[in-house]
Amino acid sequence: MSLKSNILSELEENRGEGISGQHLAEKYGVSRNAVWKTVKSLINEGYDIVSGRNRGYRLSPDSDRLSAEGILCRLPESRRNVDIRIYREIDSTNSEAKRLAAAGLDHTVLIAAETQTAGRGRQGKNFFSPEGVGAYMTVMLRTKMNVSDAVSVTTAASVAVMRAIKALTGVEAGIKWVNDIYVGNKKVCGILTEAITDFEAGTTQFIIIGIGVNVTTSEFPEELRETAGSLNAAGLNRNDLISRIADEVFSLCGDINDRSYIAEYRKHSIVIGKRITYYKNGEKFAAKAVDIDSSGGLVILKDDGKKETLRSGEITLRVQK
Ligand code: BTN
Repeated sequence: MSLKSNILSELEENRGEGISGQHLAEKYGVSRNAVWKTVKSLINEGYDIVSGRNRGYRLSPDSDRLSAEGILCRLPESRRNVDIRIYREIDSTNSEAKRLAAAGLDHTVLIAAETQTAGRGRQGKNFFSPEGVGAYMTVMLRTKMNVSDAVSVTTAASVAVMRAIKALTGVEAGIKWVNDIYVGNKKVCGILTEAITDFEAGTTQFIIIGIGVNVTTSEFPEELRETAGSLNAAGLNRNDLISRIADEVFSLCGDINDRSYIAEYRKHSIVIGKRITYYKNGEKFAAKAVDIDSSGGLVILKDDGKKETLRSGEITLRVQK
């Protein structure tokens, strides 16, 4: 690791607290002047670092600039070798993941960006990704799974986000099938899961889990104003959030055959027991959502009294009359 990276890790790990220049100089075997020069270059990059006589260097407790160091230092020791790539601006973190795979990347990677110029949502929609206010991230897992099992990753990703929000803000988020995360009656997070597959083997090479959380987004375009919201949790840091979500994703997807998270998904479902509408072969139907099955499918009770399980697609919640 470079001196800059080491110092940034120290500052992030002790965010809000002072670290003496002397301590850093001794720890990394450099002069105090070298430490100061490095801190100055971090300040020039935009890190909010203050230094004071006898107080050392301190990263502001409100510092919210994304960095690989800020994410890594909050991951458990056993995951600190993960490849993290941060972009100030990118078209889409999911598209970048695909480009990396096409260029021959052969391992798991975590990508995050301050803003996306062409953020992608499900069903060809855009994902609104303004600068500095969201967690726009992709975990691309290098994993060989049956394509049919890979669908469960979508369900697991929702639980990962829900757990991370709970852990860092105390808020119990709801999950709208299949993988939108709600706080109150507003969508605060969307998830787009894609895969790179070996068609003949019917297995995945990579699973691409794209997660977009509105952290402090306050202005939404007209068409989203009714439905979109943000976490707006005081003091929530985006590096911490990305780190926590990634850690939960790694844990849950590490053994996708352990379906115990389905119970958590069910418990947080905001659709079970509600009237919904769904589309099938381009036609719109109404039904009641009654359960989530063990592979994350939505069990519905149709108006003709028959049950059916939806495996993919979009549903809308009907306003109860
Ligand atoms: C949806 O709500 O329809 C899914 C939205 C997924 C957005 C995330 S943001 C990070 C990643 N990169 C993208 O282009 N999309 C996903």
